[in-house]
Amino acid sequence: MAEALRVGIAGLGTVGASVARVLRDKATELTRQCGRDIVITAVSARDRKRDRGLDLGDATWFDDPVKLAQAADIDAFVELIGGEEGPARSSVKAALEAGRHVVTANKALLAKHGVALAEIAEKKGVLLNYEAAVAGGIPVIKTMREAMAGNSVTRVFGILNGTCNYILTRMEAEGISFDACLEDAQRLGYAEADPTFDIEGHDTAHKLSILTSLAFGTRIAANDIYMEGISNITQADIRAAGDLGYRIKLLGVAQRTESGIEQRVHPTMVPTASVIAQVHGVTNAVAIETDILGELLLSGPGAGGNATASAVIGDIADIAKSRPGFQHGPVFGRPAKELKPYKKAQMRSHAGGYFIRLTVHDRIGVFAAIAKRMADNDISLESIVQHAVSGEAAAQKTVILVTHETTEAAVRKAVDGVTKDDHLTDKPQVIRIERAG
Ligand SMILES: NC(=O)c1ccc[n+]([C@@H]2O[C@H](COP(=O)([O-])OP(=O)(O)OC[C@H]3O[C@@H](n4cnc5c(N)ncnc54)[C@H](OP(=O)(O)O)[C@@H]3O)[C@@H](O)[C@H]2O)c1
Repeated sequence: MAEALRVGIAGLGTVGASVARVLRDKATELTRQCGRDIVITAVSARDRKRDRGLDLGDATWFDDPVKLAQAADIDAFVELIGGEEGPARSSVKAALEAGRHVVTANKALLAKHGVALAEIAEKKGVLLNYEAAVAGGIPVIKTMREAMAGNSVTRVFGILNGTCNYILTRMEAEGISFDACLEDAQRLGYAEADPTFDIEGHDTAHKLSILTSLAFGTRIAANDIYMEGISNITQADIRAAGDLGYRIKLLGVAQRTESGIEQRVHPTMVPTASVIAQVHGVTNAVAIETDILGELLLSGPGAGGNATASAVIGDIADIAKSRPGFQHGPVFGRPAKELKPYKKAQMRSHAGGYFIRLTVHDRIGVFAAIAKRMADNDISLESIVQHAVSGEAAAQKTVILVTHETTEAAVRKAVDGVTKDDHLTDKPQVIRIERAG
């Protein structure tokens, strides 16, 4: 049998401890699958004394993950610390430069420095595997990088943040407010004490930027993503969406357009009957559309110690199965030096259908004025309905419009016009509608 693969793990928190546990519990099975043993020879975390419920055997402890990354007795370095800079970045860079294979679950690091790190990995001829960085346990990276060779991707989109999907699912199922759902999510450990990163879309954007690079062969551009979170979604939106045959999801969407690549993260209405609309709670899903395959939807657990460990261990096993001298495939599907610069499509030209909810004064002429603003901007309406606002003393109405395909620019201009007409009693709500199978 070949020599054992010696693994160093930096970070023994939720994911790191699960990885260490599964590597131990499934050692025999993994040896059978990989044709060699996988042994943890070194570990690093902040607090050496913390009881992690783990027997780390003879693994050498390192206070400094960079030193671990450079240690002579490891073949693969597993980074499970987190963060786009600091010890995560310096240790991954050190490991690659020392010619060690790297596995990481760190989307923030890859979104910011992924291309630079890929260049080092490719120069050194080592693997940089990151399956767990996008959609946790769902093997989407492997699917796009390996199983879809020869396919040209036209669109990739998904539910990439379990916290947001949990909140939207409960808002719909139980009719409760965004704030009440968020509080519950925090109590149950599905949301961080500071939930901004999740609910405002940053986490989804990080993951989307990695998928965009894989899908379209462009350099990662995580700062060039149009982003709206879910904090302004109300029960009125959820109910109106349901009445119209839609469900609201926070989607990350990347697609090729005539003016470049569009990357956007925002609440989206998807048809209730579509497969992605059936993805509930903390579950994640990624849909990939290609010229050869058509549409593929992968769904499953997007976070949690064991689910994430499953993806990390798959990456470690790939390293164990690789052989010296074997030419590894490029990190982002094409050689990092050949990734094209990202050309951003103008969001104002995004074409699709829109849901518009307006709360207006109940007075003569308002309905007609709204319809005129739409017509003036060449917006064709699929439906326009008005309802009385219940429980309000002041005379107000809700007007709900669903447009046929039109542009972002036209919708914004029309809504600005309605706002200037001084008919609104509340902020207008605009939600994009996405075609989904
Ligand atoms: N949790 C998930 O469900 C999930 C899902 C997908 C991807 N990820 C990604 O996986 C990574 C790890 O996440 P996690 O949830 O496991 O985080 P975590 O529970 O906070 O664990 C972080 C670990 O890093 C260690 N650490 C922090 N600073 C360090 C330093 N300077 N030197 C050495 N060790 C240090 C901590 O040590 P102490 O234990 O001593 O404090 C801890 O063991 C992140 O990149 C995250 O985005 C997580």
